[in-house]
Amino acid sequence: MPVINTIMRSIAIAFVSAILLSSSSSSCLAMRVAVTGTTGRLGRQAIQILSSKGIETRCLLRHPIDANVVPSIEKDASSSQVASYIANLPHVTMVTGDATDASSCMELVKGCDVILALHGPIRPPPLQSLFCLLPESDPKHSRSVNFLAVQNLIHAARESGTCQRIVRVTGKGEEPTSFFTVLINMLGNMAKAWNYEGEQLLRTNPDIDYTIIRPGVMGNDDIPMEKVLALTDNGQDLPVSAVTHSQIANLCVECLEYPNTARSTLTAMNVKSGTGAESYGPLLAKVQPDSRTFPTSLLKEHKQAARMGAAILVAFVAVCLSGIAALTNAIGGAVVGLLSKK
Ligand SMILES: NC(=O)c1ccc[n+]([C@@H]2O[C@H](COP(=O)([O-])OP(=O)(O)OC[C@H]3O[C@@H](n4cnc5c(N)ncnc54)[C@H](OP(=O)(O)O)[C@@H]3O)[C@@H](O)[C@H]2O)c1
Repeated sequence: MPVINTIMRSIAIAFVSAILLSSSSSSCLAMRVAVTGTTGRLGRQAIQILSSKGIETRCLLRHPIDANVVPSIEKDASSSQVASYIANLPHVTMVTGDATDASSCMELVKGCDVILALHGPIRPPPLQSLFCLLPESDPKHSRSVNFLAVQNLIHAARESGTCQRIVRVTGKGEEPTSFFTVLINMLGNMAKAWNYEGEQLLRTNPDIDYTIIRPGVMGNDDIPMEKVLALTDNGQDLPVSAVTHSQIANLCVECLEYPNTARSTLTAMNVKSGTGAESYGPLLAKVQPDSRTFPTSLLKEHKQAARMGAAILVAFVAVCLSGIAALTNAIGGAVVGLLSKK
């Protein structure tokens, strides 16, 4: 009898597990996802993952598809080639619009459960940013792209009645005076500052859940073999490292399977083997929602630090130029002196 009981219990456990497993995978497949930053290096990878999982995905695209370009996803492909390639993927629907436009966001989010907000401003010409030549109200300015667009997406999510969560990729930005923050703010129309303010919109909005991901430097696809994945929650710091777009795209999609990552701010880097993990699963399982008080606004400090950085840079360039001018004069004088002696 005990043997029969054990067998019956095992069958029952296996049956329940099968039901749970199938319901969890079907809930993932039933999810509909809206994506911004479609043609970006991060966005295109996230969309390919979603499509391969059979997840219905609506992708925001700033320019209509050009029927004359050859679809491509190669590294050197143009934005319109990437757009054509993505448009042909299964389960993908393109929505033409701009994240800085509220009605485009409403159209994008229609019927979706989640938004992956992977857009970011296009790098401006350095002098334009250094001398603040682009007004903050311009749709290309970081304020519009990293802040107002996030506001539009929160509003669209709330109005949709279906969208519960926004995953937003930003970057480390709580230290306004750190060298790279100053540099990026100075040369990128205050991109770090406005990304932080965009994060704050998400954290302070009670209706829609968020997962904010602050990755390291994305771009280099050759991560040393001995490096492994690391994740901190509560916006805690990790030393900056190179991460790949593919790692972060996977993280954006995988976190959707972990309800405990709702209302969390994650830092994602690569660390020495032994201190991290080979995959995000075990790291995501441990994530706790944000519990500390984040600075309410760092905008003033960001702007002061960037202004100081710009002043130092301009002074440095001026000193270099006057040094070069003095040297040229001295050499010229010496040459003239030599020639006149002859
Ligand atoms: N690269 C890094 O090291 C790094 C590190 C930390 C965080 N991040 C952040 O990660 C995000 C994605 O990075 P990435 O490397 O994929 O950037 P990316 O290749 O420059 O892609 C940016 C994407 O945003 C889109 N976009 C720009 N303005 C838009 C607007 N107004 N409305 C809708 N879409 C708009 C662009 O579309 P178009 O093709 O139409 O221009 C493009 O698809 C950015 O937010 C970036 O700030 C990057």
